[in-house]
Amino acid sequence: MIVISGKQFSQRLCVGAWRTFSSKVTDEPYWIAKFPDRIASFDEIPTVTEKYNPRKVPEVAEGWFKKYGHVVKEPMQYGKYNVHLFHFDDFRTVYRNDGEFPIRQSHYVIAQYRQERKHLYDHVGLGPGQGAEWSHLRNIIKGKTYALRPSQEKSEDAVNDLVEIIKTNLNDKGEIELLPWLHRWAFESIGIVALNRRLNALAKSNNELADKMVEASALTDEIIALTTMDPTTMYDERYKQLVEAQDFFYSVLRKYIDDIKRDIELEPESDGIAQVLFQSGSCTENDAITLIMDLFHGSLQTVPLTALMAFYHVARHGDIQAKAREEAKQKMPKKDSRYFRSTQSLGLTQSIVYETLRLNPPIIGNGRVIQKDLVLGGYSVPAYTNVLLHYQVACRQEENYKEPLKFIPDRAEPNRTVYVFGGSNRMCLGRVFALRQLLLVVAKVIKNFEFFYDGGEISMINQMHNKPEKPLILRLKPIDE
Ligand code: HEM
Repeated sequence: MIVISGKQFSQRLCVGAWRTFSSKVTDEPYWIAKFPDRIASFDEIPTVTEKYNPRKVPEVAEGWFKKYGHVVKEPMQYGKYNVHLFHFDDFRTVYRNDGEFPIRQSHYVIAQYRQERKHLYDHVGLGPGQGAEWSHLRNIIKGKTYALRPSQEKSEDAVNDLVEIIKTNLNDKGEIELLPWLHRWAFESIGIVALNRRLNALAKSNNELADKMVEASALTDEIIALTTMDPTTMYDERYKQLVEAQDFFYSVLRKYIDDIKRDIELEPESDGIAQVLFQSGSCTENDAITLIMDLFHGSLQTVPLTALMAFYHVARHGDIQAKAREEAKQKMPKKDSRYFRSTQSLGLTQSIVYETLRLNPPIIGNGRVIQKDLVLGGYSVPAYTNVLLHYQVACRQEENYKEPLKFIPDRAEPNRTVYVFGGSNRMCLGRVFALRQLLLVVAKVIKNFEFFYDGGEISMINQMHNKPEKPLILRLKPIDE
């Protein structure tokens, strides 16, 4: 144990490990009452050893937080530890010290799959990529994320199609399981920005392809999560399933991309990420396809699951729903008003999206291998430790939000909620697109339907993404204008 005097303490503030603490110099660290005159050693971090169901990680992690505090360590293979963090200040410290090439330890199975297919992939992709390899891919797409923004007309057409398809699929009680339709809408929407094509996922028939792609991405996610958390169990069996899912995913996108290549040879196209990448000559064909796959994979679960939970919350809060509808009607006063043609902002709808991302984020948090020694929660954590940033647990604590389990959009706080997208220069590539899509879908669907929910609190499972354990059935009443 190192005990230091007040003077030494302030000296350390200026020099040693403390320099990594990123709040204003005058702010005291949140853990000062626990360790008023010293930094605790790594060994002192409480250790958790219990076996747990990976599908219940958020609850298990919250239990650790409640029992042991803001930092716990969990023994992993080869004498290493994962360190679990539950405080926003520690998230900020980790991200601010990320360096040029932030390391996120996951997606090993995807790396293996792609490395075994070098004729198709020049690099392993954004998910598993590290160091210069990751940076190479990220730089290719960096200047081109503007391509994630156009196609407003097509994006809005896709939501209009979603509204119509919801109407035709309500049962005689007005009930519907929205999630499969939101998945199809997400597939259609990423197709619009990535390929500048409508993929017919919301057509009345012949739309099974979208369902199979969503299924393949969900299975891939689950296998990534299981093999990251527990690389030793059933690895071969899981890898075999992943190969099947990824072969299918690749074959579908390959076909779309071959069509685009043929089309742009006949006539150049300015919209669409694939088009921009192919025509700019800035990357190999294999890298372009890898990036398109990563964008599809990144979007098929996250946005639909967030939209679903936003609808669940508004269904349970009629007053908030009515105000949001009023706001949407002001932006789009007529039946055929176009969302993107109005400049009117959507303050409440935006707050609904942020509050949903706080209370029901599609993912539990993020991870980093820290690249220098850091002081986290008052403990000294050595470089190259894998730390897990439990955003979801932090968002559900009284110390951060009053009555944290209540849905209160008025308190939405974008500056903190942005951590749901990770941080530093490795932050989610689809953040702006995701937020735009969420605002668009929530506004348009609330304008067209009244929502009701008669069931109780739903319980969630985690399969890399947080999902309702059972189908979430909402009751919708179309609004005739
Ligand atoms: C609510 C929606 C979303 C959430 C909460 C979310 C969250 C995240 C998080 C936490 C990361 C890790 C970032 C880091 O390590 O700092 C990430 C990475 C990524 N996301 Fe998202 N995401 C969302 C939507 C999307 C969408 C729509 C796309 C595609 C259009 C996408 C594509 C990606 C990609 C490609 C990466 C890897 C970035 C890299 O490692 O360089 N995400 N996302």
